[in-house]
Amino acid sequence: MTRLVTTAGPASHRFDALTAEHMRAGGSWKWSTPGEWHGPDGRHGLIGAFVAEMDYPVAEAVADAVRACAEGSRFGYLPDAWVADMAAACAAFWGERFGWAPDPARVRPVPDVLTAFTATVRHFSRPGSAIVLPTPAYMPFLTVPGMIDRELVQTPMPWVGGRFVLDLDAIDRAFAAGAGLLVLTNPHNPTGRVFSDAELAEVTEVVERHGARVFADEIHAPLTFGGARHRPYAATSDAAAAHTVTATSASKAWNTPGLKCGQVILSNEADAAHWAATGYLAEHGTATPGVLATTAAYREGGAWLDEVLAYLEGNRALLAGTDLPGLDVIVPDGTYLAWLDARGLGLGEPPSAFFAREAGVVMTDGAACGEAGRGGVRLNLAMARPVLAEALDRLRAALRA
Ligand SMILES: Cc1ncc(COP(=O)(O)O)c(C=O)c1O
Repeated sequence: MTRLVTTAGPASHRFDALTAEHMRAGGSWKWSTPGEWHGPDGRHGLIGAFVAEMDYPVAEAVADAVRACAEGSRFGYLPDAWVADMAAACAAFWGERFGWAPDPARVRPVPDVLTAFTATVRHFSRPGSAIVLPTPAYMPFLTVPGMIDRELVQTPMPWVGGRFVLDLDAIDRAFAAGAGLLVLTNPHNPTGRVFSDAELAEVTEVVERHGARVFADEIHAPLTFGGARHRPYAATSDAAAAHTVTATSASKAWNTPGLKCGQVILSNEADAAHWAATGYLAEHGTATPGVLATTAAYREGGAWLDEVLAYLEGNRALLAGTDLPGLDVIVPDGTYLAWLDARGLGLGEPPSAFFAREAGVVMTDGAACGEAGRGGVRLNLAMARPVLAEALDRLRAALRA
């Protein structure tokens, strides 16, 4: 196999040493699923590139915080002071990185963004109203509404000028037909879009026209590349602040989804009061070690995050410089998830199945992201660069066979 090289990033980085064998031995979901494909002990040599986790060891500050929990037996229920400290650290990080520091009193703990989503649907959208979801989308947003007895309206994102965009007319029609809440994921998984201020302003106009609400999923906020910069939706205008519940977490940028700590950010007085009255159950599942690790990530994890962002820039450059014949490739502006459109290949089967079998690379099938994603695959770039080079090599070989 030809080894690909990239000119981006340092010639050798500590993450380069994280081999596929090392990752398989770690036993993560990403590197062991589907079990029957990997074979006993990862015998089949598959490369795990689906679920949105990074292969990099966590920041020392995060590891220290978890160790301190074990050493100090900090596994009890959450004290208010630790919640307040986490909220202050989160608000300061947001202020520094995104130019908008929410009031720490309005930053509340939840175990994860999906819990924030179900709580927002239940308590902040008109009872029984449908949920509007631009697709392709993060997969659980397609299935969770039905589980909480809500209808889902997909608004497929048209492909315009080499990128996916929001279909505002379709969103407008969905609201006109009675939908009550828009899921606005930004940076966007799986298209890698970071929406512009102009696009966000158009969303506000449509939402305001119908007195609807927005669930702003900003879990990937710190993960932007090139010239792209995250703009919190609730910070774009008073109107947006008034109709939005924001959810985020340190879990994508610092790779800690198993620590179970996310944040809901309320951006107006009425919502803050309503959350105080209704948010208890959603908050209850938040993990105490997760809150302490999250505080450490936001407060002390900036240098680690910058190192990861620089490394991911190199991985993006590697993807951008790789010829994958027959695929339309989206190098993400935000998130570490790339989109490979395989519709031109006429495969006659889901592309994820083709690439897992023929290339040994396990990716998320686009159809799981909604009808608009059918024919595409989502490739997780957050691996050691030599492993990514091998994955791309294998994809290219499969395409040429
Ligand atoms: C856009 C988006 N939202 C939500 C989630 C899930 O987050 P959590 O584990 O906090 O529920 C993910 C995970 O990949 C995601 O990419």
